Formats: sequence, C-alpha cells, structure tokens
Amino acid sequence: MVGMGMIFDETYRPFFEQVHRHPLYDPAFGVCRVELRAVASRTGTRAEAYRRSAAGRVAAFESFTEPDSVQKLLRAGVDFVCVATPDNRHFAAARAALAAGKHVLIEKPSVLSLAELDELDRLARQQGVLAKVVYHKLLDPDHKKLRTLVADGELVHVNHGYCSLLEPKQIAQSQFAEWIRGRNPGTYVAVHYIKLIDFTFGGRLASVACTGQRGLVGPPNGDTWDSTQLRLVYRYPDGREAAFDIHTSWVTPENFPGYVEQEVQFRFDNGVWNGHSRKRGVELTIEGVTPLGRKITINNHYNGTFLEPWGERSQRGYGVEVLERFAREVAHVEFGGPAAERPARLEAARALAYNDLSADRQTVAAVQAMEAILAQHAAGIPNCVAVVDHPAGGLVLLRPGGAEPQVLYAGTV
Ligand SMILES: NC(=O)c1ccc[n+]([C@@H]2O[C@H](COP(=O)([O-])OP(=O)(O)OC[C@H]3O[C@@H](n4cnc5c(N)ncnc54)[C@H](O)[C@@H]3O)[C@@H](O)[C@H]2O)c1
Repeated sequence: MVGMGMIFDETYRPFFEQVHRHPLYDPAFGVCRVELRAVASRTGTRAEAYRRSAAGRVAAFESFTEPDSVQKLLRAGVDFVCVATPDNRHFAAARAALAAGKHVLIEKPSVLSLAELDELDRLARQQGVLAKVVYHKLLDPDHKKLRTLVADGELVHVNHGYCSLLEPKQIAQSQFAEWIRGRNPGTYVAVHYIKLIDFTFGGRLASVACTGQRGLVGPPNGDTWDSTQLRLVYRYPDGREAAFDIHTSWVTPENFPGYVEQEVQFRFDNGVWNGHSRKRGVELTIEGVTPLGRKITINNHYNGTFLEPWGERSQRGYGVEVLERFAREVAHVEFGGPAAERPARLEAARALAYNDLSADRQTVAAVQAMEAILAQHAAGIPNCVAVVDHPAGGLVLLRPGGAEPQVLYAGTV
C-alpha cells in the first residue's frame, strides 16, 4: 500500500481487514490469502496509528517512509501494489512498482497525462502484469442500472448531461493542505464522472473546455482552484454529438447535510435519467450530532459501517467491492489455471475496460486537457479549448487570440 491517507482509511483498510478474516475463494483459483504486507507513506504517522489500532485485524506489516519509501516497499516481498498517493504522485510510484514486476492498482485519476499513461501501459505489457485504476462509481448500483439500460437499448442516444460533485471545505483546508497548492477539484473528483460518461456511453471525446473560481483556498489570481466547471463534447459513430457539464468544488460549508453533493442528469432521445447519490431515501436527524458529527443524508452504498443481522460488524459497499474485484483479477491471472495459460488469463483481465489502464485514454486526455486549460487561465489566458484529432496532433490546446496551437499529445488519443 503506497499512501495511507483518507482513501486508505475509507476503502483499503476495510478491504484488507475483511480479506484477512475471509480469504478470497473461487473454484478457479481455490483459497487465496491476501495480506497487507507493507505500506509506504511520507511520514509514517498514520501507518503507526493504524498499526496500533489494527492489531489482530490485519497481518503484521512493515511501514516505510520517505525518502525512497516505494523502493523499500518493493523489496519487502509484495505481489501487488496499490497506489493512493496524491494525484500528481501516482505516476512515480506506479512506474516503480511495474518496473519491479508487480501488479498495480492506482487510485483515480490514474495519471495526469497520456505520455505517463503510455509509459505505464508499456511497462505493464513488458513485465506481464496488470495495471489498473479504481473508479468505484462504476460499481455504484445506480450507475450499473444506468449502463444496463443503455447497453440494452432502453435508453437511446445520450444528448447531454450534467454531473456535480461538491466536497466539503475540510478537504481543501485540512485533509489536502499539504499538497493542494496548484491543484483543482476537477482532477480530483470530476474524473469520476468523466469515466462514468466515457464507460457508459462510449463514443469519441471531441473537445474539452473548462473554467473555475479561485479566492478561498488560494489567491484569486493564483493557480489553486476552489471550484471548476468542465465541459466535454463526445461524438458518436452515427455522426451525432453529446455535451456533458461537470461541476466540482472542495469548498462546500461543513454544515452541508451530506458529506458530498453528488448528482447526475442525463437526457436521451427517448428518456431522462436523474440520479442523486446523496438523496437515496434516508434522512437522519440526531439532536446535537447532525449535520456535523454525522450527516443527514448518508450514503450507505459506498463504504457504510454496519451491524449485520448475524451479529458481525462490517464495513462494506462498492468502494470496498471494487478493490476485491482487482484482487480477484490478480488471483485469476496467477492461480486460475495452468501456468502455460497465464498469458491468456492476463489478456482476459486486461480486456476489462472498466479498470484497465489501456482503456483510460479518453479520461486521461480529458484530465490532461483540463489541467492545461486551468494552467493557461492562471497564467492570464482563460477560455482555451482542447480538441481531439486536430490536424496538429491527437490532443491540441487552442488559445483565444490566434496564438499557435499547443500540442499536448502528438499521438492518437
Ligand atoms: N476513489 C475515491 O473516491 C477517492 C477518494 C479520495 C481520494 N482518492 C484518491 O486517492 C489518492 C489519495 O487521496 P487521499 O484522500 O487518501 O489523500 P491524503 O492526502 O489523505 O493521503 C495521501 C497519502 O499519500 C502519502 N504520500 C504522499 N506523498 C507520497 C510519496 N511521495 N510517497 C509515498 N507516499 C506518499 C501521504 O503520506 C498520505 O499517506 C488521490 O489520488 C485521490 O484522488 C480517491
């Protein structure tokens, strides 16, 4: 485990504790034990706190700190590596792990540029291992239903959509204070919806536009963003287009009734899908507790803590399920049949577009474009647009005022 922050605590920790109690089983690979062997982080403080609190719930693990924490972890005898460092530090850790021949699972957004994606994909192929990325919203039952209706042709041709994910101020002001300078909430959370749109509706990304607001997390003319509004245009094989607006922020007041605001609306030729992941039916009030100690609208589907009807305490949901899926994919590749058939099993696992890095190209292109547009904006040139398949290259930034197009990626997106 590389990175022991918030997402470790929300999803990886319950996964490792659950699989420590109940190893994976599948008729194809038998019983497969999955133990947290080693962790790497900047200072090791949270790793030590976890070690103290987790005694008996996970196996004994080693903790390595910077400098060089990832290389030390790689020498500790691990089989796969999960990367949950800040967004702009995924690439270095993932590259080191792949170069050492380890399967890798990276938190979203996988990487911030297509050049980085190419390098990780090349290394994974060279080493014969998996390189995958976590987009847990694809496993949200509501999003699975949406995709099922689209796949079965009940919802016909998406025309336009709106998605919103607003994080609390605490994220910007304390949780991410160490690395938030120069960052934006779009890369951090709009990417969930970029992937949802890309995976659910298919099509070819055509263009990316973005604007945003500053002044709360950093200065009003700086490069750290409070909120962003992203627009993606997709083109479909029948020649028609759809546009999607994705609004994000990390400065929502702490007394907001839910932990995050999460909403999607999609319009089709023959229908409308309106989904609200925060308002799925439960409203909880506890005097003196909600909405600060506990939220009023709670998401019990992501990684809720429960007392199961059979008496066991559990933490479960799609945020944990997505990690178990990856461990099962690794187990299938390594133990799911004769060694001679490993290449075929590896290819089958790679063909899963929901999490394979090779299927993350359009999402990474959108993120790279958004970062470039916001960088230009901070440098005094707002309203740039990135286009895909431009005569000058695969991903090209067009700046208002007739400046030369800037090639962000020369190859085909
Ligand atoms: N899937 C989701 O919904 C979701 C939610 C939150 C975060 N995330 C993603 O998870 C990643 C981590 O986010 P977080 O909220 O846990 O962040 P965080 O700031 O809480 O934790 C980051 C961790 O990375 C470690 N770290 C930083 N630099 C490092 C380095 N060079 N080498 C090794 N360790 C290093 C830190 O010590 C810390 O343990 C981000 O990419 C984020 O986008 C995903």
